Amino acid sequence: MIPVDIHNLVEGVVDGSISDEDLTSWLKKVHSEGISEVETIALTEAMRDSGETLSWNSEISELVVDKHSTGGVGDKVSLILAPALAACGLKVPMISGRGLGHTGGTLDKLESIPGFSVEMESDQIQAQVNKIGVAMVGQTDKLVPADRRMYALRDVTGTIDSVPLITSSIVSKKAAEGLSALVLDVKFGRAAFMTEEVKAKKLAESMVSAARGMGVATTAVLSSMDTPLGCAIGNSLEVLESVETLCGNGPADLEELVCIQGGLLLDSTGLAEDRDTGALMIHDTLHDGSALECFRAMVDAQGGDSSILNNDSSLMVGLGLIDTELNATSLCVAESGWVFDIDALSIAHACQRMGAGRFELGDVIDRAVGAILEVQVGDRIESGDPWITLYHRDEVGRSTIEGLIGSIVLVDEEFEPGSRIHEVIG
Ligand code: URA
Repeated sequence: MIPVDIHNLVEGVVDGSISDEDLTSWLKKVHSEGISEVETIALTEAMRDSGETLSWNSEISELVVDKHSTGGVGDKVSLILAPALAACGLKVPMISGRGLGHTGGTLDKLESIPGFSVEMESDQIQAQVNKIGVAMVGQTDKLVPADRRMYALRDVTGTIDSVPLITSSIVSKKAAEGLSALVLDVKFGRAAFMTEEVKAKKLAESMVSAARGMGVATTAVLSSMDTPLGCAIGNSLEVLESVETLCGNGPADLEELVCIQGGLLLDSTGLAEDRDTGALMIHDTLHDGSALECFRAMVDAQGGDSSILNNDSSLMVGLGLIDTELNATSLCVAESGWVFDIDALSIAHACQRMGAGRFELGDVIDRAVGAILEVQVGDRIESGDPWITLYHRDEVGRSTIEGLIGSIVLVDEEFEPGSRIHEVIG
């Protein structure tokens, strides 16, 4: 298939002149045979141009950046990184999604903040980013309409799992934001969309190539998603941990991922002389209060109650975590040892069953429900001590508890845990 056909095809997807049957047979062909790098770029470009795109004046256009994560458990990087980037002078029109299945979604987390609205039109996003440097919102109907029809059809025709189709779907939506630079966090491991590292790397390379082909300076981080990121899983609990991280008190693995991704964007835009200097700049914003101030400004601008950020107790109350109907149940280890592994997937399934996550698109979630890890990989734990505390509304079901048996693995010898980040591409 040649690029001009792709352009016509995407036009037909939006104006309805291509039938579901013809689109399905094309999707199936791409799914089984693939398409070339050049065709993937043409498809991504045509999808980006299928609707409205954000535009920026020449003074800031070189500074407009965003990130995308392929999703994981406890992945709250966006909530911290977006304001940290704004504190460094970058402009972040971040368009995110909701959680489905075992992975969480940034919009659901943000909506734990009382009053916070994630619905904005393109002109409102542009105005807010121009004014305070950051907006975190949901997809509008007008951005990349081609993806909505194609994704819905992919979902029912078993063609989700295709590198060029995933690439064009994700990158077109990011490119429609009018970005100068993009960083991708492509996860692999038991709780990732792609479990195998080689497949995740292929996807990362394809997305970097497509985004660069469209003039967006793009890098990708390949990071493992076997254990939860940080200690908090569940919407309100993840906002609490994000605010702690914005105050310089976050878990080391989370702060590392935020700093590395931010460093890559600061390097790509020329605001830092290299990625390590950029990572230090992000680190400073988390420790001098400037990232928290940008987060506060964003909460105010999007209708949220920023007074909950004033102290720990107002934050807990505001996030609905001080609630007599919310129960805490801790699970303890039977032996002493060093924590070698914690299974992110079984914990995510437990949280989903307790009401923190959706099984189907329209499901209502309970934002206060979730889990806190009392230890992380590499920590020492003594026999009888809790390793996880579950926050739940109803009784925790037997199947939920049973699903967590064997989720923590201890070893006798102390060891140095490795970084989650295996490789930077680009
Ligand atoms: N997320 C998307 O937006 N599109 C895909 O194809 C897969 C994940």
